[in-house]
Amino acid sequence: MYRSEMTDQHPVAVANAWWRGAVVYECHLPSLRDGNGDGIGDLEGLIDSLDYLSGTLGVDAVWTGPFFRSPLLDQGFDVSDYTAVEPVFGTLETFDRLIVEAHARRIKIIVDYIPSHTSDQHPWFTDSRSSRASSKRDWYVWRDPKPDGGVPNNWTSEAGGSVWEYDAGTAQYYLHSHLKEQPDLDWRNPEVREAMFDVLRFWLGRGADGVRIDVAHMLMKDPELRDNPVAPAGGSNPFDLQHPDFGTQLHLYDRRHPDTHQVMTQIRAVVDEYPGAVTIAEIEAMPWSDWADYYGANLTGMHLPFPFRLIETAWRADLLRTELEALYTALPTGAWPIVALGNHDRTRLATRLGPAQSRVAAVLLLTLGATPCLLYGDELGMEDQPVPAERQRDYFAIATGGVSRDPTRTPFPWSNDVNAGFSPAEEARLWLPTAHNAAEINVETQLADLTSSLSLYRALIRLRSSSAALRHGDTTFTPGTSSDAVIAYERRTEDDHKAIALNLADAPAAVDLPVRGVVLLSTTGHTRDTGRTVELAPNEAVVIDVEEGGHHHEDH
Ligand code: GLC
Ligand code: CA
Repeated sequence: MYRSEMTDQHPVAVANAWWRGAVVYECHLPSLRDGNGDGIGDLEGLIDSLDYLSGTLGVDAVWTGPFFRSPLLDQGFDVSDYTAVEPVFGTLETFDRLIVEAHARRIKIIVDYIPSHTSDQHPWFTDSRSSRASSKRDWYVWRDPKPDGGVPNNWTSEAGGSVWEYDAGTAQYYLHSHLKEQPDLDWRNPEVREAMFDVLRFWLGRGADGVRIDVAHMLMKDPELRDNPVAPAGGSNPFDLQHPDFGTQLHLYDRRHPDTHQVMTQIRAVVDEYPGAVTIAEIEAMPWSDWADYYGANLTGMHLPFPFRLIETAWRADLLRTELEALYTALPTGAWPIVALGNHDRTRLATRLGPAQSRVAAVLLLTLGATPCLLYGDELGMEDQPVPAERQRDYFAIATGGVSRDPTRTPFPWSNDVNAGFSPAEEARLWLPTAHNAAEINVETQLADLTSSLSLYRALIRLRSSSAALRHGDTTFTPGTSSDAVIAYERRTEDDHKAIALNLADAPAAVDLPVRGVVLLSTTGHTRDTGRTVELAPNEAVVIDVEEGGHHHEDH
């Protein structure tokens, strides 16, 4: 059993933290809702979406996506001013209003914190690049060419090609782990840290309830910049959308340096100046034990290191159960996890699994002992929408011929109105084209259909909020239920006990549970009483309210 109780070493403030019981919604700002009719989603549009998010869907927190001043080559993950709002997204006044309106609906706002790199248009970088004598030179990572003029080492970028870009003006290379327009800041420089800590204070001081920290595992690199070893063939992850160049080596020295944890603790200490604020740290594919290290010694690191392993595991019960058990085994005492099955950098859940298993995935996401993070549109079963080359926005693909992440990021379909209700602008001006099936897959249509994906998510979120066991109970994987089709687990608190059984196969399956009870929710709509053997229809997942005393009765 994986207990979620706190031990006395851990502060009560964290034990009762709001984010333990919350459902987080990942909004991709350019694609959620256009508030001013120019074809691109914005903060005004997010404000207009709050009634849907809180009232209709019932989520507790929104992770906004970047809205800072930016040339928008990487959807705003290329920041040219950390404390200004990009005009296409709104103004500081709009942000302040977002906070007020969200809080009035009991929604928390989690903003992006993008510490690893700036845009090459950031004044820090233009200054840094202007001369070797610039006071900002050491805010970035500059190195001499090798004697033959070549790049300082072999590291490959997530966006493709080398991480090094030659600057003719000063005859040195600078490091960029992503686009060449995204130079990496040097977090070994204390001035950089101080400046970036002030960025945290700026947004948390303005009312943000937390931060999602971009590529947290990349802040500290090997100080000697040693070459990465070559990867064994076939080592690249089929579920990742990174450039093929990236998978050619083992990323041993360009990320995850042990000193990263010292930086995490410092960031956490700054965030703790704002009681209740949460830190969600993006941590890409890595073993669960490494993921667990991001909680820090005595939980002084990140509140919620955000793992990708579940998104990247093939959809098979035995494989997923192995990952989940490893997650809970690695979870430090007193810590609490966040889980996601969708993300703006990955293939859409419904494209990966198809409509029937996407419903099973919804039950998994919303019944685990973890804070669920739901990608905008996954509640509708939105699929990847291929985007014609001339409409693509993801510069990672445009610049280097990598895989475009645009298909995951198309506009949220609200209704059957023009442009699926996303924007009144002319179609050609839309940030990205709307989905071809937006007539079936939209909020308005799905609200009217009790069997829709949206209706399922609404029911699950309601069930989760009304059940102490689902919100914060212990998680026990039911022994003897492991097969490649079924995952079964129980969640319980003192007064509440739920059993969950998921059939990941397109064929009937039976599972023996140590309990009996009532099926409160089923992906097929078939509610019923169950005995110890639960018969599951193909692609069926159920949440069972366990009969009071049933557990004891059955055990004796
Ligand atoms: C993170 C973001 C991704 C972005 C990259 C560089 O992985 O999720 O969208 O391109 O960092 O900032
Ligand atoms: Ca707009």
